[in-house]
Formats: sequence, C-alpha cells, structure tokens
Amino acid sequence: MTSDQHRPRFHFTAPTNWINDPNGVCFHAGRYHLYYQYNPNAAKWGDIHWGHASSADLVHWRDEPIALAPTPGGADAGGCFSGSFALVAGQPTLYYTGYTAQRQVQCAATSDDLQHWTLQPARTITTPPPGVGVQDFRDPYVFRHDDRWYMVVGASLHHARGQCLLYRSDDGIAWDYRGPLFTSPDLTLGRMWECPNFFPLGDRWVLTVSIWLGLGAHWFVGRFENEVFVPESDGVLDLDAGAFAHLTMQGPDGRTLQWAWMNEQREQARIDADGWAGAMTVPRELSLDARGRLNLRPVAEIAALREAPVDVTTSGAQRGVVATFAGRHLDIEATFTIRSVHDSQKLGLTVLASPDGSEVTRIVFWPDARRLSIERARSSTDALVRRQDLHGTLLLDEGEALHLRVLLDGSVLEVYANDRLALATRVYPVSEASVLGSVFVEGEADVALQVWAMGSLHEGPRSVLARPTQD
Ligand code: FRU
Repeated sequence: MTSDQHRPRFHFTAPTNWINDPNGVCFHAGRYHLYYQYNPNAAKWGDIHWGHASSADLVHWRDEPIALAPTPGGADAGGCFSGSFALVAGQPTLYYTGYTAQRQVQCAATSDDLQHWTLQPARTITTPPPGVGVQDFRDPYVFRHDDRWYMVVGASLHHARGQCLLYRSDDGIAWDYRGPLFTSPDLTLGRMWECPNFFPLGDRWVLTVSIWLGLGAHWFVGRFENEVFVPESDGVLDLDAGAFAHLTMQGPDGRTLQWAWMNEQREQARIDADGWAGAMTVPRELSLDARGRLNLRPVAEIAALREAPVDVTTSGAQRGVVATFAGRHLDIEATFTIRSVHDSQKLGLTVLASPDGSEVTRIVFWPDARRLSIERARSSTDALVRRQDLHGTLLLDEGEALHLRVLLDGSVLEVYANDRLALATRVYPVSEASVLGSVFVEGEADVALQVWAMGSLHEGPRSVLARPTQD
C-alpha cells in the first residue's frame, strides 16, 4: 500500500481493511488511545470489531491488538458498535453498543491493560425507553459530572427525529434512565442522531451529533441544567458528512481533543482493489470564541510531522496565480489580507493539479458571498469517484484576514478556515503527475504562504494485529 497515491500518511487509517467511527479515545497511563470501528476481514462495513492504536505524543501512533470482537451468542454477536472510555473507580471500562439483528443494547467491558477486554454481561442496558425503537438506540458516551456518572445515548424519537437519552449511575455499573437530554426541535436535522458527544467547554456545554444516515454533523452550545441540555447556539460541525461520528476526550493538559471519521468517496470496486477504506481527521483542539461559537483547529503537535519546507515559486506566469508549489502530503498555511471586497472577487488555492489541467481540486473563497468551497468537479478523471462541491459560510469581521490551514494527505483533504469552519473531504486524482498546487487571487489581497512536506504518523511497518487471547 505504500505505493498507493491515495493512501494518507499523517491521517490515521487501519493497517488494512475498513474503519469507521473513532471510539473510546482517552489518555491513560501515559499514552493516548484511539479505538475505532473496524472490519478486520474486508474493506467494507460489516463484522464490526474495535481496532486500537496508541501514542505517547499524539503524533506517532503504533498499532495495538484488536480490542473488542463480537461474542458468539452474546449481546454483541452481530458487532461491537461505537462507544466510549471511562476510568470507573480506577477500572478502565468501555461502554459500547452490542448489535444483533434483533436489537441494540449498551454493553460494558473492563480491562487492566487497555488491551485485553472482558465483557460484563450483567451490566448491559437492554431496553430503550418508550418511544425509542430497539434499532434506534446506540453509541453510549459516558462522562463524570457532579460526582456521578452520566451516559448519553443516540436515539430517534418515534423513528422521526433525533434524540439524546440521558442515564445516570453512582457506580458506573447500574444505570437509571433520567429522560431525554435533548430532542431535535427540527425535522431537518435527520430522523436519528448517532454518536452523541456531550462535554463542558469553557463556561458552557457542547453537544455534537451525527445525523443518520450519513447526513452531516451538528454542534450545539448551551447549558446543562437539571439533567437537561438547553442550547443557546448551534451550527454545522462538518459539512456533507465529510467527517462524521465526532468524539472528544480531555487531554492530560486539559485540552479538549476531537477525532472524526472520513468515509471513502468512491465506488466499492475501487476500494476492494486498494484493500483499505476510511481515515480519521487529525486530532482537533476545540474551544469557544468570545461569541460562543465552537472553534476547532488541528492540534499544535501536528507541526512535528512537518519534514521540510516546500519550495514556493512566486510567479506572475498565469493571471491571478501568485505562487506555485508541488506535493501530495502537505501542510499549508495561507493568510489572505483582503484589501477591498467587490463582486466576483475570489481567491484561494488549487491542489493535486495535473500539468495538462485535466485534474485539479480548488479551495475557493468568495469574500462577497462569504462562501468557502472545495470544488471537486475536476478533482479526478475517474468516473467512479464522487465529485460534488462542498460549500460553507464564513463571515469575516471587519479587517479580519482569511487564514486557511490545508492538510492534504493523498486522498484526504481537510481545510480549516479561521479556526471556525472545517471542510473535510476526499479526492482521488488518477494521474501520478497530479501534484501541482497554486495560490490565486482574483481581486485585491496580500498573501502570506508557507508549505511543508509531511511525514508518516506510523511508528514503522504495519500489520494486522490479532486479538490477544484471554488467559
Ligand atoms: C456511525 C455508526 C454508529 C454505529 C457504528 C456502527 O457511523 O452508524 O451509529 O455505532 O457506526 O459501525
């Protein structure tokens, strides 16, 4: 796979085969742990296990043995669906959804070393509350608050609107249902909410949900009072489900770190041929800005994977092009100071362009429309990959410059704008020569640009790691 030009280097993927949601992220005994939904036997969704990787520094990751596997005849016989980690009275515990064709239940497994996990069948939450179907009940997120344990579970009320359910426990073992934490006020936010994540940030609480079925992710910022969430503001977390199933943890230094899953955007035939599917976003650090908006940026540690500055040529060769560079695994910082805003003015970057122009991906900001887009129509000449555009809204304050952080990694493209709008997607140019990049300005703006080549996050060669035997 090292010769696969679409395979990322500094975004996490499984050694082979399929991954989806990040699960059970935590920092324990000096290491960060990233678990993930994993099919060890095929590059498509199914037979869901929990894969596992760990890191001392958030930058370099090593593969660990498979953590959870479906138990034949058990509550998770059909798959170990998404969930979270908690240290319960000193005992590492995973809470996750056990899936069978009949129903979804909330399971718990314990471990002493974060590698060998033992299902605790007596702790299973077997029945959803009234109004919630047995297949609309998943993805427990457990957290500590007011000296008690709380669990939020993703659900659908009457299979019609998204809902987050709240459970409470004194010991992390026996759980009481407390009622809905929050129910979607709006039918446009999907029929069901998956992977709810609920955490304090600054002086507020944040709820993020993924909209079933793959329709995007939304954030809410508000208050947590009397065991109910009261939202004060909300917005799009990731457009178009470019990243999905967001999950946070608190780092040892108090930072709130978030991962999300980036699905493939190509036909299964292509995926089967390559033998792997899915990647994680880089870890993001979350914060609230002065206006209570959710802000997000790649963690500072990512800069440790910068290998060398890439040569930037400043050229006036083509109208509007102010700089050119090349590469397929890049960290780019571009700041545009816009001097005046007028109609049809646009600026941005192109990446993964072929010399003949047949392939190109464009990241475009229209100051007048306050719109940031990733244009994928010409990103690949392959008809079996998705190529629709992504559009986000970005309001700049008076005099505020546009800052774009672009993480390009083979087929993975993440764009962070002014730490408050993230666009994530996948692009699959066919030509090996599609490595050219540029910065363009049609209008009046000054540009500062830095480009780095990026190294690998994996600590050496990778192989699929079998599940450790229980002894
Ligand atoms: C989200 C999701 C979760 C579920 C898991 C199964 O992508 O559908 O709701 O637990 O994936 O793999």
